[in-house]
Amino acid sequence: MPDLRYVPEQRLWLLHTPSTSYAVALDDDDNVRHLHWGARLTTPAIREPAAGSSFDTAGGPRELDAEGGARFGPAGLQVRFADGSRGVEWRYAGHDIDAGHLRIHLDDRHHPMRVTLHYRVHDDTDVIERWTTVTNSGGPIAVQRCDSASWTLPQRPGYRMSHLVGGWNSEFRLRRTDVPVAETVFTSRRGMTSHQANPWLALDDGAAAEEHGEVWSTALAWSGSWRITLHRDPAGHVTWTGGPGHEGLTWTLGTGETLETPVYAGLYTDGGFGAASRAWHAYTRRHVVPHPAEVRPVLYNSWEATGFDVDEAGQTALAAKAARLGVELFVVDDGWFGERVSDHAGLGDWTPNPDRFPHGLRPLADEVHRLGMLFGLWVEPEMVNPDSDLYRAHPDWVLHTAHRGRTEMRNQLVLNLARPDTAAWTHAWLDRLVTDNDIDFLKWDANRAFTEAGWPGHADPDRLWLDHTRAVYQIMDRLRAGHPGLRIEACSGGGGRADLGILARTDQVWTSDNTDPVDRIGIQHGFSQLFPAQVMGAWVTDSPNVATARRTPLRFRFHVAMAGALGIGGDLTTWSEDELKEAAELIEVYKRIRPAVQHGAAHRLTGDGTLSAVGYSYEDQFVVLAWCPSRPFGHDPAPLRLTGIDPAAEYRDTDTGVVHSGAVLRQSGLDLDFPQGDHASVLVHLVRVDRKG
Ligand code: DGJ
Repeated sequence: MPDLRYVPEQRLWLLHTPSTSYAVALDDDDNVRHLHWGARLTTPAIREPAAGSSFDTAGGPRELDAEGGARFGPAGLQVRFADGSRGVEWRYAGHDIDAGHLRIHLDDRHHPMRVTLHYRVHDDTDVIERWTTVTNSGGPIAVQRCDSASWTLPQRPGYRMSHLVGGWNSEFRLRRTDVPVAETVFTSRRGMTSHQANPWLALDDGAAAEEHGEVWSTALAWSGSWRITLHRDPAGHVTWTGGPGHEGLTWTLGTGETLETPVYAGLYTDGGFGAASRAWHAYTRRHVVPHPAEVRPVLYNSWEATGFDVDEAGQTALAAKAARLGVELFVVDDGWFGERVSDHAGLGDWTPNPDRFPHGLRPLADEVHRLGMLFGLWVEPEMVNPDSDLYRAHPDWVLHTAHRGRTEMRNQLVLNLARPDTAAWTHAWLDRLVTDNDIDFLKWDANRAFTEAGWPGHADPDRLWLDHTRAVYQIMDRLRAGHPGLRIEACSGGGGRADLGILARTDQVWTSDNTDPVDRIGIQHGFSQLFPAQVMGAWVTDSPNVATARRTPLRFRFHVAMAGALGIGGDLTTWSEDELKEAAELIEVYKRIRPAVQHGAAHRLTGDGTLSAVGYSYEDQFVVLAWCPSRPFGHDPAPLRLTGIDPAAEYRDTDTGVVHSGAVLRQSGLDLDFPQGDHASVLVHLVRVDRKG
């Protein structure tokens, strides 16, 4: 059972996860002070962290730093009351502890506003889930900022931050730099999680490496705009505060209303960045994704092969080829509906294009099912082309602002799903589409950011920044409830919407539109910091690659994509018989290693700069995927040390039959038999030798 305790003499709460502890206490002014986040404590006798810094004259770090008094750091809660006054002063109003969930209630001393700090722990993870609720029993409150949580580190001489940066076609690039003595803002102002930054952040004191050292990391479960502000002062105090929305937005909290933030989860580990990732992966599988026990099917998607040139005959031909390869899920991408023959028109008109699908989608869906595959379809429910029947009928359904233009991106506008009528219409057509066509899988895309995000005539327009995302969640949740077999892929022009909020109602993420395997090694490395391989969509596409023009061997492309949820995205009609045969063999191999890749513990075994590798340990198996994009001076990479393998066991290579000692594989490493030349790769599948057998 989760271990949460209140120690009344110290007005202190102590939270234990399996290997960590977290402690907070009330001070004399009823502020909830942060005391400890780190190694497991055996005593509640916790020393208060040094109070005060040159930035902060009013005591030590708080669990949610509200504006008010002599507080000058980034505020996690900023409100303006109906009488125009700002800032809060707390009165402790009790707490509840209920099956791993602690709620600490704080009332403002004057205004009828209650803030509850929520903490939830589980007995199978060190991840602590935190969020905030604000309940207003008085006149309207303008909420200018309401973060999910603030996090505090022990005072150390210095800290490094690891975070993910990128853009379209270059998502999830890991950066690791010193934390400056400053306020550092990580944010998305796009209405989507974003390609540019991801709400995951890891801090270490400079000593952590892949397999050792203390790492504190956090992930916000939110798929709209967000902001995390990290603050380090010259004395070495480091805190950060994060939640939904970006600066400049204000929501009105009406009388009787409660605002609930998304979860901002935190994890402490002393096993380095690798252990942190493995703990996040396990948490995501156990507590976030809807179907953790499943393995993701091998899918085919024709987007790179055919673009918008989608019709029944072409898709049927591809489906036949895909089925022969061993593909399990066939997905029709953009271009099947309305006047959508390019990205200029038709978005919003969700009926099959009669020239392309004269009898609707059903014949294709039936044929795909007859071939033994699941049937999937691309949709972009939050968007509309101005050149569409939907927009002509409902120009007011899009985000827009009076007296301003409507900026188009990819020739499209964003539907305001915060509007109940727009949201209801969206759920209705999706529900009908799934029912009528026996759809097993939706690829839910969202290809542009919010601009002119207004709602003329609405008294509280900024609310849409929260309510649009909530509506997306609600529509997905309703669809899933109505169609329990339905699986969903989250996509936003590639990996622009990957976060723990969307993953609570989707099964996988389209990681990036960049399918070049060399670039993908870096993208997947960043993605794996937080997300498990099970949710990482990875396709094998054609060579030369459409994004980079790089030529790579089929085997290399497969080996890179086999590190995630494998898909095929090439034009199979142009693949030679030899290529189709090799692809079918590799898909068969993938299905054998898939439980290890998707459900195992991932060890990033990155080597000497020329070599990248991942090992997956699962039950009696250890799978290695190693990639060598280039080989400077023709030197062979050094043997690969298999951290994560059991040193007391022996393993048989299922290909060669050679038996290796786990201890030797850990210490001296595995010699990898790379083919000659650049873009070389190796897959090694080791199975523990049963000594009794
Ligand atoms: C962006 C996605 O990332 C692609 O895979 C594809 O679905 C296109 N949109 C279709 O418009």
